[in-house]
Amino acid sequence: MGIIQRGMRTIFLARRTRFLCEARWLVCPSPYRRVHGGGESQQKERFLITTPIFYVNSVPHLGHLYSAVLADTVHRWQQLKGAGGSIFSTGTDEHGLKIQQAAVSHGKDSLQFCDEVSQHFRDLFSKSHVGHTDFIRTTESGHRKAVEHFWRKLQSAGYIYQGKYEGWYSTSDEAFVPDNKVMDSVDKTTGKNIKVAMETGSQVEWMEEENYMFRLSEFGPRLLKWLDSNPRAVYPSKYRSLVRGWLEEGLEDLSVSRQRDRLPWGIPVPDDSTQTIYVWLDALVNYLTVCGYPDNHHAHWPADCHVVGKDIVRFHAVYWPAFLMAAGLDPPRSVVTHSHWLMESQKMSKSKGNVVDPFDRIQRYSADGLRYFLLKHGVLEADGDYSDEKVVKVLNADLAGNIGGLLNRCLATSLNPTQTFPAFSADMFPMHLGKKSNSLATEEDYKLLKTLQELPGSVDQHYENFHIYKVLEETMLCVKQANGFVHRHKPWKLGDSPQDREWAGTVLHVAMETLRVSGILLQPVMPDLMSRLLSRLGVEETERSWSDAEKVPCAEGIEAPYVGRTLGADKGVLFQRLQKKN
Ligand code: MSP
Repeated sequence: MGIIQRGMRTIFLARRTRFLCEARWLVCPSPYRRVHGGGESQQKERFLITTPIFYVNSVPHLGHLYSAVLADTVHRWQQLKGAGGSIFSTGTDEHGLKIQQAAVSHGKDSLQFCDEVSQHFRDLFSKSHVGHTDFIRTTESGHRKAVEHFWRKLQSAGYIYQGKYEGWYSTSDEAFVPDNKVMDSVDKTTGKNIKVAMETGSQVEWMEEENYMFRLSEFGPRLLKWLDSNPRAVYPSKYRSLVRGWLEEGLEDLSVSRQRDRLPWGIPVPDDSTQTIYVWLDALVNYLTVCGYPDNHHAHWPADCHVVGKDIVRFHAVYWPAFLMAAGLDPPRSVVTHSHWLMESQKMSKSKGNVVDPFDRIQRYSADGLRYFLLKHGVLEADGDYSDEKVVKVLNADLAGNIGGLLNRCLATSLNPTQTFPAFSADMFPMHLGKKSNSLATEEDYKLLKTLQELPGSVDQHYENFHIYKVLEETMLCVKQANGFVHRHKPWKLGDSPQDREWAGTVLHVAMETLRVSGILLQPVMPDLMSRLLSRLGVEETERSWSDAEKVPCAEGIEAPYVGRTLGADKGVLFQRLQKKN
């Protein structure tokens, strides 16, 4: 419950330091705070984090994996801090014109097609250690019931009316596009003149239909209030400003159904089987379905965090909170928005043929290697350019070199013949510099211990801010400092005298403490690799929680309980160095 306790602490801090909010969640009202919601909500107790649900029109690519790995890492961090009973949901978005057309083009029945592609996403997540608690498919009957109930709520509250939609529609984005957001273009394959959406570049078609409209135009002021009173409503600030701009421009009512004769692949509008519910309304409700809506969602709602890519921020930060407000539910606490992965400066997309196959890259680099790269080079605010050369360089330097190198040094049988966790000598490395005559520790060595003690606190803030690259940078720096420390004292050059052996053990102890603490803190990013590291160091499963990383006994003048313990079995190199040309 660490995060909730912190949330409570921040309530009081927030009064004086609101202006610092973007820099640190610690000083803002945490989006994870327990609140007593208005409307239909009751007391919320449990953490809920989600990924978008993925379209099944084609198999997953690296960009999809990134959304999921980011959410998974933050969820694992929450769990490491003790958040129990949380939900981390993902799944597949299976209705709509785009999927209907994809099934036809593959000559398959729609559901059979969805079954197959959805399974690819499941496989990918299981291979890449994405530990979701729920995997939802919008074709499930439980979801259909939730959508029907939600629709009826909107309707009975008076927010849905029958109307006519005349305008542009992009099937690729499954989005209605206003006239002033459409421009002329030429289809590269046919050479024909077409219209495209300015924001996404995808082709739009004119559509005129009788359908149901949602009174989105009424929600501008309430949405602005939500945005302005909650610094994390849309995060980071770049996207918050974007959303603010849209709200200030004013909102138009939104078509929320399609004629069923044109779009049979979807959930029919309750009590009107001539209409199909708009795929985005259907899809967004998945977040409620996973927490038991309409009967049992109270413990989890509102969602703490929806992780989304920048292309779908409008749906999550404008439509979704408005739908929720209309249905008498609280809007989400936070919509965390990330940028995209590019391939040679172009957005990855199947039509461009430049997608990176995550299954293939997991085979080359291991799941945790790929996760490490994505999180080290992916930042929320800016697009990242993928290249295999970069992956090889980063993984060799950080995992094979920095962490793997330190582990090898500490555990080499020549240096550690008994294969036990060595003792720390408080005489040779006293708590304070220069306090004892036989102290061998230098000023630099004290700096290492200080960095190690401070690491959990600062890494914690980086996780909270979704600055995973900073988590990795700082931890790697600390490991680097430990490598420097070992190098400085060269334990392999020490002799066999009891004093020399005591000092060699002390040096190894400090280096292994660095690996232990770093290993615990990096578990959310590389669950498998760090588990192997910790096992090799002899750290028990019950000693791998966040609070275990916060304790560095040797720096506190306490004897560590694991001193003298036999190390875990040697199961080979931690991370195999990669060849340049993979
Ligand atoms: N089905 C909708 C989401 C509905 S949620 C209620 C959808 N699906 S998607 O498959 O197109 O995209 C899913 C996620 O993958 C989005 O967050 C999107 O931003 C992300 N990515 C797709 N391509 C991407 C990159 N090239 N890079 C990073 N993420 C990208 O939208």
